[in-house]
Amino acid sequence: MTELPINPESPWLAPLAGWSDLPFRLLCRERGAAVCCTEMVSAKGLVYGGRNTEELLATRQDDAPLVVQVFGSEASFMEQAVRMLRERGFGWFDVNMGCSVPKVNKTGSGSALLRTPELALEVAEAVIRAAGHGRAGFKLRLGWDRPAPGQRPICHELARRLADLGAGWITLHPRYARQGFSGVADRSALAEMAENLPLPLIASGDLFSAEDGIRVLRECGVSAVMYARGAMADPGIFARHRALQAGHALPSPDREELAALIRRHAELARELAPRTALLKMRTFVPRYLKSLDGARNLRRRLIQCTEWTELDDIINAIASGEPA
Ligand SMILES: Cc1cc2nc3c(=O)[nH]c(=O)nc-3n(C[C@H](O)[C@H](O)[C@H](O)COP(=O)(O)O)c2cc1C
Repeated sequence: MTELPINPESPWLAPLAGWSDLPFRLLCRERGAAVCCTEMVSAKGLVYGGRNTEELLATRQDDAPLVVQVFGSEASFMEQAVRMLRERGFGWFDVNMGCSVPKVNKTGSGSALLRTPELALEVAEAVIRAAGHGRAGFKLRLGWDRPAPGQRPICHELARRLADLGAGWITLHPRYARQGFSGVADRSALAEMAENLPLPLIASGDLFSAEDGIRVLRECGVSAVMYARGAMADPGIFARHRALQAGHALPSPDREELAALIRRHAELARELAPRTALLKMRTFVPRYLKSLDGARNLRRRLIQCTEWTELDDIINAIASGEPA
């Protein structure tokens, strides 16, 4: 089993529902992502053989090390799901205790587990039993909502108890679940947890550039960082991170780099997920063009394109700088 690097030189790709599929993970790995997480996979869906689950679990040999993120609120299903994953050869797991989407929270899963810490620990114990000591991480928010004045956010006590149970690492996105993505990530909470936790801590939250990632590593003393929206906008963020860590900065992507990125993404998507490839490209690529001047027209064309030849034309227009 490939070891799991958790250190400042090894940037992670976050679990991203609808985004961190096999083609996107490989694209990020080619650009320096050290560890990638799958999209969240429902434990119940896995146990009952749900329709989408197999697609979410698609992988191949060079997609390693891979962390499979599972969600659920019933310890028995979570344990069974992780056992099934282990039997299939998956070796690293993450439990979603941070997702704030109502559809997930309604079932008591994701960040809703932060409202029921005893249940969260029961789930964790079951997952660790199935995964093995040190093989599961837990992705937390600060808590469900702000605590009463004078009280600490629940994540600190929870992380300590997860460490006692045999967790391998903790990831913290330091916002309350009730905040969704509003406000800013509370970096002081990362620093506080990093200082007290006897486990590696991975930082998530508002890491939009490699500079943000390096700053959090230095200022908060966390073990590693995980890029989410930053990677969605620029999968080259991993190469930028590694370059900065080595003491030099890479230039922002120019037209040629953008065109090459989109071509490569399309190639991987067509090969590995042909059924959804074009639709995904229509969703993913507009994000890559945010930094490009005068790309509004291209973005409009992109989200309507129905043929691969149209995408090729758009890529050529990006590379040449000619109006599309
Ligand atoms: C489109 C999208 C999908 C996400 N899906 C998941 C998920 O499946 N599991 C999870 O734990 N977090 C998920 N997250 C949260 C991210 O992993 C990350 O913690 C969060 O975006 C904060 O990092 P950022 O501010 O650098 O983007 C998702 C975020 C976005 C934007």
